[in-house]
Amino acid sequence: MSDKKIALVTGANKGIGYEIAAGLGALGWSVGVGARDQARRDTAVARLRDAGVDAFGVPLDVTDDRSVAAAADLIAEHAGRLDALVNNAAITGGGQQQPSSVDLAVLRTVVETNVIGVIRVTNAMLPLLGRSTSPRIVNMSSGVGSLTRQSGPDGDTTGPVAVAYAPSKSFLNAVTLQYARELADTKILINCACPGFVATDLNGFRGVRTPQEGAATAIRLATLPDGGPTGGFFEDAGVVPW
Ligand SMILES: NC(=O)c1ccc[n+]([C@@H]2O[C@H](COP(=O)([O-])OP(=O)(O)OC[C@H]3O[C@@H](n4cnc5c(N)ncnc54)[C@H](OP(=O)(O)O)[C@@H]3O)[C@@H](O)[C@H]2O)c1
Repeated sequence: MSDKKIALVTGANKGIGYEIAAGLGALGWSVGVGARDQARRDTAVARLRDAGVDAFGVPLDVTDDRSVAAAADLIAEHAGRLDALVNNAAITGGGQQQPSSVDLAVLRTVVETNVIGVIRVTNAMLPLLGRSTSPRIVNMSSGVGSLTRQSGPDGDTTGPVAVAYAPSKSFLNAVTLQYARELADTKILINCACPGFVATDLNGFRGVRTPQEGAATAIRLATLPDGGPTGGFFEDAGVVPW
């Protein structure tokens, strides 16, 4: 088994996920580029390799049991273990999401991807993480999942009313805490990251931060030293209130 640290980043073909892969690669990690579309995955892997990253493609649709199981098999064969899992893939469900008029099919798809997808991938990867000496899990959340921010005087800075996307991140935060409690006696540190408002496809490139800036907190949490925090929610400026 290689001494090189091994990471899997879901939704790594573009946006913040791509930059998390690039950043971990620049630190000398071998990075699995989890992506559901073969052409987009191959292009991202080629770009990362051109930049000197030890990247390998991992076919991965987080909503598909068989795809996720196959991804775990691929990493087991390729590396024999996993040192960091970054659950980055997510969707917004698009458009207007007023609670009174939301399309329930959209709501289900968002939860399936942003929450159940994270649980599906995490559970498939836990045996591989268990073979690492310093395993880390990072769940890409969002400040819009902060109930404190949604309900406080700063509510107008936490994005539009979005009954699918924003609560999916609150749900993800709550799920992360449950994992942290279950895994408290293991070496696994699991935390949520907020990247800030980043210019990506997710928001029609209206964000004000670069994907590299958005990747920074996730990279920090993926590379936490032993004894670092677990069950927390962080952004560049520090702790995000639940
Ligand atoms: N951008 C922001 O301002 C912002 C703010 C707060 C939090 N975040 C969070 O940061 C993370 C990355 O977002 P981003 O802005 O980089 O968005 P993005 O550019 O739209 O990238 C999302 C990634 O997720 C992938 N994905 C979606 N559904 C998937 C599925 N079922 N299986 C596998 N991959 C799937 C996409 O793949 P395809 O290319 O195949 O669609 C893409 O690679 C997300 O968790 C998002 O909620 C972003």
